[in-house]
Amino acid sequence: MRKSPILSLAFGAAILFAVAANATHPVDTGNHRQVSAGKKVYLENCAECHGETLRGPVNPAKFPRNLIPPRLDERGHGSHHSDQYMFNQISAGSEDKGGKPVKDGMPAFGFRLHDAQIWAVISYIKSRWPASLQRKQNALNPGHGPENKKTGGHGRK
Ligand code: HEC
Repeated sequence: MRKSPILSLAFGAAILFAVAANATHPVDTGNHRQVSAGKKVYLENCAECHGETLRGPVNPAKFPRNLIPPRLDERGHGSHHSDQYMFNQISAGSEDKGGKPVKDGMPAFGFRLHDAQIWAVISYIKSRWPASLQRKQNALNPGHGPENKKTGGHGRK
């Protein structure tokens, strides 16, 4: 059977579309490379506060009362936020309402980590959640587009 040029065109377009669609989804918990890169970033930069197993700090009394790092596992609140919201939190760190850094809060990692490392650490955090929770949270990530930037699916920031 001869391939119809129209069909080939449609096929080509479908591939292009698939690649483009994927490019807008920087977080992929099925990508083992990304997840293990994220684990490294996590253990080096985040575990001291959020806990090696994502359950929060071993010694919460070490932190100011109003700045106790939250747990990031499935029992934490993080899954109520979109990937973009988490990206903003990690990039900017703790900010007050005026967008100023909060003393003794979470540091801004936007200066120390590449975007790809931030997406990877989000991928690692999410990979520790049960699949059902990942699916639920993925509904907050329509294309990871800038539409999430302000609300992050959750009001604040
Ligand atoms: C010095 C301690 C500290 C370090 C280091 C730190 N965090 Fe945080 N993190 C906090 C605190 C405190 C909060 C609470 C929110 C706030 O104050 O802005 C927070 C909040 C968060 C949240 C939002 C969670 C939620 O329930 O909404 C995420 C996601 C997060 N951190 C990820 C990370 C990642 C990833 C790293 C490493 C790259 C990291 N944090 C490093 C202290 C820390």
